Amino acid sequence: MIEVHHLTHVYNEGTPWEIKALEHISFRLARGECLGIIGESGSGKSTLAHHLAGLLSPTLGSVLVDGADIYHAQGGREMRKKMGLIFQSPAEQLFEESVLKEISFGLRQRENLRPGEIEERVKGVCRELHPPLEYLMDRSPFELSQGERVMVIIASVLISKPEILVFDEPCAGLDPEYRSNILHQMEMLRRSKKTLIILSNQIKGVIHLFDRVMFLHQGKIISCGKLQDLLVSGDLDRRVTDLLPPLARMLINLREKGIKVIPSLDPPSSISLEIHRLLEKKQKDQ
Ligand SMILES: Nc1ncnc2c1ncn2[C@@H]1O[C@H](COP(=O)(O)OP(=O)(O)OP(=O)(O)O)[C@@H](O)[C@H]1O
Ligand SMILES: [Mg+2]
Repeated sequence: MIEVHHLTHVYNEGTPWEIKALEHISFRLARGECLGIIGESGSGKSTLAHHLAGLLSPTLGSVLVDGADIYHAQGGREMRKKMGLIFQSPAEQLFEESVLKEISFGLRQRENLRPGEIEERVKGVCRELHPPLEYLMDRSPFELSQGERVMVIIASVLISKPEILVFDEPCAGLDPEYRSNILHQMEMLRRSKKTLIILSNQIKGVIHLFDRVMFLHQGKIISCGKLQDLLVSGDLDRRVTDLLPPLARMLINLREKGIKVIPSLDPPSSISLEIHRLLEKKQKDQ
């Protein structure tokens, strides 16, 4: 269980360059849940991702994982092992001379394993990836495509068996083939009941993964819940509307014109049937 209480982060506090990146962010996440965090550039997503992984000290508030403060708790290092963060622009994190060494780096630092065991663990995690990465083991990470590099980083995080995974803009800058590979990977993790937090500047293409979605704007939560419930309640902040996929925007526009379509987002054909039904009813009523 993750609990975030009034998390506030101010960069360069007390200087002319002070920036309030997060303000009183509070939410809870149960084990096995998938939370989407959507916000435009500069809304504070990466700052929040770093806090969730225990890499930043809050200016105010706290992040608790299973009841213990991830940044301040004693044994914090053990706790941080529960969290796996796939950083934004992960390709920039690569530094080893081979994919095998890159993926096993954390393992070699933390655990006293024989080289054979390490190789087995790396191959094991690579076999589970989509597509499997075993064929890349001896290559230099710097020779790989952007999409392959992201997969290497995902493998290097998964190898430590974290309970909670945080993806910061996992699909940014990838071609459609690798975007679909990463999405597939996140779907598999979701199915295996991993707790997932996915941060993105757009909801398109990832919404189906989320149990709940939280919208960030200038460091504040402006909406949070199941998208379906948010659409039914009709009290979505205008700023959220701009971040929604076209279908959801259409539902909101119809609602504003007095046409209340039951927002079943999946499949979209059910919405067109509902519109058809409403139009027929309207014609009969006239
Ligand atoms: N190390 C830093 N020092 C000072 N200000 C920072 C630092 N990192 C981020 N900021 C500022 O904090 C705010 C939030 O930045 P953050 O990177 O968390 O947003 P983001 O939603 O991840 O943006 P993007 O979608 O562009 O990655 C921005 O105004 C940014 O300029
Ligand atoms: Mg970011």
